[in-house]
Amino acid sequence: MAGPETNQSAKLILPGGKEATLPVVVGTENEHAVDIRSLRSETGYVTLDTGYMNTGSTSSSITYLDGEKGILRYRGYPIEELAERSDFVEVSYLLINGKLPSKQERQQFGVMLTRHSLIHEDMHHFFAGYPPTAHPMAVLSAMVTSLSAYYPDSLDRSSPQDLHIARLLSKVRTIAAFSYKKSIGQPLMYPKNSLKYCGNFLHMMFAVPSEEYEVNPILEKALNQLLILHADHEQNCSTSTVRMVGSSGANLYASIAAGILALWGPLHGGANQAVIEMLEEIRASGDDYKKFIDDVKNKRSNRRLMGFGHRVYKNFDPRAKILKKMCDEVLSHLGIKDPLLDLAKGMEEIALKDDYFISKKLYPNVDFYSGILYRALGIPTNMFTVMFALGRLPGWIAHWKEMVDDPTSKIGRPRQIYTGEQLRHYVPIDER
Ligand code: CMC
Repeated sequence: MAGPETNQSAKLILPGGKEATLPVVVGTENEHAVDIRSLRSETGYVTLDTGYMNTGSTSSSITYLDGEKGILRYRGYPIEELAERSDFVEVSYLLINGKLPSKQERQQFGVMLTRHSLIHEDMHHFFAGYPPTAHPMAVLSAMVTSLSAYYPDSLDRSSPQDLHIARLLSKVRTIAAFSYKKSIGQPLMYPKNSLKYCGNFLHMMFAVPSEEYEVNPILEKALNQLLILHADHEQNCSTSTVRMVGSSGANLYASIAAGILALWGPLHGGANQAVIEMLEEIRASGDDYKKFIDDVKNKRSNRRLMGFGHRVYKNFDPRAKILKKMCDEVLSHLGIKDPLLDLAKGMEEIALKDDYFISKKLYPNVDFYSGILYRALGIPTNMFTVMFALGRLPGWIAHWKEMVDDPTSKIGRPRQIYTGEQLRHYVPIDER
């Protein structure tokens, strides 16, 4: 999918006067791009863009974001409306299928998710094989890859997508909760079909066989909102990884497992864990956050203010705005006073007035406040990135599906500029 071409073009004049005329494509929100695919065959030149700072790797109809204006929309719907009025399962349907479900479609989708919530009993042995200290992201990624062993028809990409998609959405939730139970040495709690998606997750995380567990509606609503806010974010590091791996023909489970691993890093989804660790460290050292910020600015500590900055948002991250408000509401509803929230607010206030952060356009991102909410929900810090993965799942699936369904998509294969040695000849070891 290259995007609608216009009758406009761009002219590139290269050293030696060689010229290339390149088509211009325009998206539905008037984003313009120069299509450089013919550049190499016409001129011998490639483009260089380390970190994909300004390269469109695909066109996509899933998510629109405008980093200057702080706009984020899934399939055209503003994130603020979806977070307030929808639920995670409906948003998943929307992202994957491109439209909001009818009542009947919503009901059928819910039934599919309920039906596929169990994991094969043999997979329970895998949990037993991990040490209790295993990071849940390591467990989650390995388990998701293993699903392809249990559903080998997924290797044939013509097998029904809807079934694999429902399996993934439902089983990743079960795997995430089981990995937590295993890490604290408690018995695994099986999913309960009478509960909704998020309530069922809370049940599998926090119920114990000896007691009745009632899902707290405040926690359930907050979890729905958190997952919706994470559900997609166009061509970020993990989503691009899913597309890249999937472009080789790899099955859905393998492609998603790759996305989970890309998300793990502290510059991406791992930042939510890093934010809480940073806040705890500042508290333990006497709440001197001004010194911490000073060290960050002066690059004395080789540290960053985690949860701040974004490649695309240069004004504010709409998700962070919603999350900050949610923190106040949810914590007050639950009667929780978290000193880390006050600390985070204090740090945000200082940073937003500071020239260093202003000049570099660094604002709180989705990870700055999400950890405080996860804590309020009772989720331990090392599970935060798993929560991000659970939320991002429908977005990854939607992108994988968009790519697989597009007959013009190609294997991802960037070029490079070689900067190594020129031709030299082998010398046997005794002669070196
Ligand atoms: N604290 C201090 N300085 C920062 C920060 C920060 N959080 N982020 C960027 N900078 C500085 C950076 O040092 C650089 O300064 P200089 O020009 O003097 O070398 C400048 O700002 C530009 O940074 P960059 O690394 O070139 O920017 P980028 O667009 O490549 O990186 C980022 C974006 C999100 C990786 C980065 O802002 C960062 O590391 N933030 C902290 C980690 C974090 O919160 N990540 C979660 C991102 S949102 C969730 C997701 O979608 O993954």
